[in-house]
Amino acid sequence: MATYVVTGCAGFIGSHLSEQLLDRGDSVVGIDSFTPYYDRCLKEHNVGPLRTRSGFEMFELDLASDSADAAISGASGIFHLAAQPGVRASWGHEFDPYVRDNVLATQRIFELASREQIRVVWASSSSISGNAAAYPTPEETAPRPLSPYGVTKLTCEQLGLAYRDALQLDAVAMRYFTVYGPRQRPDMAFTRIAKALVTGSTFTLFGTGDQSRDVTYVHDAVQATMLAMEHAPTGAVYNIGGGTEVSLNRVIELLQSASGMRLAIKAAPMAKGDAQRTSADTTRARRDLGWQPTVGIDEGLQAQLDWIGGAPSVEELVG
Ligand SMILES: NC(=O)c1ccc[n+]([C@@H]2O[C@H](COP(=O)([O-])OP(=O)(O)OC[C@H]3O[C@@H](n4cnc5c(N)ncnc54)[C@H](O)[C@@H]3O)[C@@H](O)[C@H]2O)c1
Repeated sequence: MATYVVTGCAGFIGSHLSEQLLDRGDSVVGIDSFTPYYDRCLKEHNVGPLRTRSGFEMFELDLASDSADAAISGASGIFHLAAQPGVRASWGHEFDPYVRDNVLATQRIFELASREQIRVVWASSSSISGNAAAYPTPEETAPRPLSPYGVTKLTCEQLGLAYRDALQLDAVAMRYFTVYGPRQRPDMAFTRIAKALVTGSTFTLFGTGDQSRDVTYVHDAVQATMLAMEHAPTGAVYNIGGGTEVSLNRVIELLQSASGMRLAIKAAPMAKGDAQRTSADTTRARRDLGWQPTVGIDEGLQAQLDWIGGAPSVEELVG
């Protein structure tokens, strides 16, 4: 059994990854700085059950400024998921944390991993593609991010290549496509819709709702990430998409029917930086990693709805 570092362990995907690593018997050294992108109490809910488990140790530190040497010492590999997420907030003066928590923090992780000669599997994003030239989009399609957030993720991919060439960094990039399920971030559409349904509040719909996403259940995204640590060749980049492309309008229909409630909608213009469509070609992940998504949209949305409805306090959990 191995010891892995998970950065961003108090976040949505990082908390699930930590849990699944512990479940299979690995030890986890979690790192998180509890950035204010969303409420700390949500992140405490994510990481709380992990803190009580044997094999889990937590370092509260900022990867962009603090030393992570002690946390990383002796680890077999690093899962680097810490970042400032979200497309819409990355414009204007809000760009600073994107540079800091994405580019700078990742550069520091790449330095450490090169020095320690350990593998990093890290979270890139479908946002590097923007409105892609081809659908489903293979990894080699020319990137064209539509948002500053996407630019920071593409920058990290390029940094990974430079560190590989100069310092033999062993890094693998996972381009996640819209991950959903229990603990999904409060700024993401599925959580906002489910919260509005459960609390009777209004959902703000950006654009017509015709925009579509290839959506990935969190358990499937985590499985791919764990497989990449073991099986991916050095320097590989993978699209991780669940294989179901749904429009936002369809997600609203499905959640209305699963909850038996009608959604109150307020229309707003399409947000700057949002792609019209995403669709992942996952041939490479299926071939190299033996990965395939297992959770369909109906089952996945029901699990997310159950999580929102079963939260001790909906207001506390989703803001
Ligand atoms: N959720 C998605 O659909 C999606 C899609 C594509 C890519 N990603 C990427 O996957 C990763 C995880 O996303 P998520 O949705 O779980 O986000 P999240 O915000 O829930 O988790 C990220 C965590 O990183 C921590 N963090 C940020 N900066 C840090 C720093 N400097 N030092 C230490 N900790 C720091 C935050 O406090 C947070 O807990 C991110 O890199 C994100 O960009 C997510």
